[in-house]
Amino acid sequence: MDLPLLSSILLFISTAQAFQYSELAQYIDSHQEEYVETLRDWVAIESDSSNVLKRPDLHRMMDMTADKLRTMGGNVELVDIGEQELPDGQMLALPKVVTARFGNDANKHTVCVYGHVDVQPAKLEDGWKTDPYNLTDINGNLYGRGASDNKAPVLAWIHAVEAYQALNMELPVNVKFVIEGMEETGSNGLDAMILAQRDTFFSDVDYIIISDCGWLSRRPALTYGTRGNCYFFAEVEGPKQDLHSGVYGGTVIEPMTDLIGILDMLISSNGKILIPGIREAVAPLSDEEWRMYQDIEFDLENYKNKIGVNQLMYSNKVDLLAHMWRYPTVSIHGIEGAFSDPGTKTVIPAKVIAKFSIRQVPNMDPAMVKKQVTDYLHSVFAKRKSPNKLKVTMVIGAKPWLADTQHPLYEAGKAAVKRVFDMDPDLIREGGTIPIARTFQDVTGKSIIMMPIGGFDDGLHSQNEKMSRYNYIEGTKLFIAYLNEVAQINKTSI
Ligand SMILES: *[C@@H]1O[C@H](CO)[C@@H](O)[C@H](O)[C@H]1NC(C)=O
Ligand SMILES: *[C@@H]1O[C@H](CO)[C@@H](O)[C@H](O)[C@H]1NC(C)=O
Ligand SMILES: [Zn+2]
Repeated sequence: MDLPLLSSILLFISTAQAFQYSELAQYIDSHQEEYVETLRDWVAIESDSSNVLKRPDLHRMMDMTADKLRTMGGNVELVDIGEQELPDGQMLALPKVVTARFGNDANKHTVCVYGHVDVQPAKLEDGWKTDPYNLTDINGNLYGRGASDNKAPVLAWIHAVEAYQALNMELPVNVKFVIEGMEETGSNGLDAMILAQRDTFFSDVDYIIISDCGWLSRRPALTYGTRGNCYFFAEVEGPKQDLHSGVYGGTVIEPMTDLIGILDMLISSNGKILIPGIREAVAPLSDEEWRMYQDIEFDLENYKNKIGVNQLMYSNKVDLLAHMWRYPTVSIHGIEGAFSDPGTKTVIPAKVIAKFSIRQVPNMDPAMVKKQVTDYLHSVFAKRKSPNKLKVTMVIGAKPWLADTQHPLYEAGKAAVKRVFDMDPDLIREGGTIPIARTFQDVTGKSIIMMPIGGFDDGLHSQNEKMSRYNYIEGTKLFIAYLNEVAQINKTSI
């Protein structure tokens, strides 16, 4: 028997073997320092998508991501998604989207991992205890901007594929990647790219995996829902210019008073939304859901301490979680045109624009919400019999996303968590909005799972963001185990 034949038989035997989890996990453990170093290189790039001066760094970050995947033998493309228009009218090239493919076996499932490598701004002066772009290990926590959101999770996925390759084990599923660089500023250009590639890159994708969120506690979690968001401007316009309150105060009907008056009609002091139709649209909380919340590990005191308040809107866990994840809420963000500098100014602003948003949950519909809010504010305003003019516009209408936790994709997730962490995951939702999940669902029609590996206290978007070594390394093992579990899903149950 000649050697090539023998080795191919051996290769066949090894790939046909049962899942060799412990070999893979061992490989991950023994390469831990290498993974931390790669994360250090990635964090060192200030890929801040909100700062146009950092755009060259962002382009470099996308190139680096593409190079990494190419070195591993992936079929990689840097997809041009055009330009963005800046407020001054100038055009600026968007960072390219990196797509990659590993494996092309029609008999296997194909998963597509979504991630992003851009970051929120960060400066040492903001109150960081370490240089945000110099990954620093303190007691097993790796501090750095973008460490948890979303560079380490993206790398963990890459390393998961790399480990299979290094040990000459066949990937149990085909793996695709979509990595973007504009997530932190609204994924500019990505929707169009997904739509354009629906029948090409995405055509053979069975499942989409997003790891761009975090656990709720020390217990691993699978995320099955996110809230959407409808963002409104309410503009009240009165006199043709700002007025002196000593000279004109008492004679004019002030736009600010009108505006505050109608804003106060949006939500009661105990959190009840007053806009007719909104609460009625919300899917009722089932007994089963109530029980799920009951089982979730969540420390109310911890939560209060973290945000620095001594009282919350609700004092029991189930109510609190439900209002964080599966009920809508109104938040008032600001008033454009209002005097907000330090000191005193005796002005009557002529025009003020309130900014507020309503988090969306099933079965709310942004188009309906737009009408409900607009009609309601106009009717409340009409009762004031003000001569001022009210204009209401909805500037963002992002739908919520909800998955079925009994779907095989989630069953596979539970099995992978069980294998790696020897416990059942918390099934959680995300109060925030990850619009891309909804786009993937609407455009590709594929099932989606959110499988976070970030810790509950990672400080995303805030000072001293970190990723623990534990979450980074065990998270990599989770992804390895997950690929194997997904491969077990029956082709027919897609
Ligand atoms: C990062 O921080 C370490 C420890 O403070 C320091 O030794 C190193 O020079 C820093 N690296 C860069 C690139 O600033
Ligand atoms: C997959 O399908 C086979 C054959 O139809 C069946 O025996 C098996 O129980 C199914 N497995 C799962 C996990 O549904
Ligand atoms: Zn993110």
